[in-house]
Amino acid sequence: MEFYEAVKKRRTVRKFQPTPVEEEKVIRILEAGLKAPSNAHLKYWEFILLRDPGKRRESIVKGLKARDLKDKEEIKRFIEPLGEETLKEVYRRALPLQLTMMLEAPELLIVCYKMKPLSEVKTYFELNPLASVWMCIENIMLAMAAEGLYGCTYTAYDTDGLKKHLGIPDGYEVASVIPFGYPREKQTNRKSETLEDSLHIDRW
Ligand SMILES: Cc1cc2nc3c(=O)[nH]c(=O)nc-3n(C[C@H](O)[C@H](O)[C@H](O)COP(=O)(O)O)c2cc1C
Repeated sequence: MEFYEAVKKRRTVRKFQPTPVEEEKVIRILEAGLKAPSNAHLKYWEFILLRDPGKRRESIVKGLKARDLKDKEEIKRFIEPLGEETLKEVYRRALPLQLTMMLEAPELLIVCYKMKPLSEVKTYFELNPLASVWMCIENIMLAMAAEGLYGCTYTAYDTDGLKKHLGIPDGYEVASVIPFGYPREKQTNRKSETLEDSLHIDRW
């Protein structure tokens, strides 16, 4: 697929067909991740594919304590204070699917990166490992789109439980838990972003 077509096609998907993802595609998208730029050439990135259904359920439900907001009133209470309407809309669609997407997707990828404890970080510069791993993740998401695959970059408030369940060593952090596969629903056209509101020439 042509690069700009993949960029255009990439989008967050939270409902998947049960169809397994071909192993060679999984390898290709992860290799695309490893080609991303990183601070100081340090690609301290590790991938975990959580495939065993029992282990996945245990790790996600107990380890991650994923919010499973299915209760309409609870969702309303969470969303109302958010203010901005576009943000509210994102959460309205996303919240009821946080747990199910991770349990039901044919593949669940956990992307880890090496980073000093947040309590020791004093400058934005020291956050470069976090910035780098998200470049890796975006390569993965774009490679997925090129393969006709989609996913969702779930980010947890607290990753300690998940790290314990999966034996992730000290010094490593979980950047994102990414359920992915073939989308269950046909994707509708998204509204297009306009550059003129964001671009400044020579000064803000
Ligand atoms: C850093 C980051 C964190 C995110 N965390 C979550 C999350 O925890 N749960 C979720 O359902 N989506 C999450 N998303 C996906 C966003 O909701 C999604 O990218 C956004 O709604 C824009 O939609 P699009 O990806 O289709 O363009 C996250 C995305 C990013 C970049």
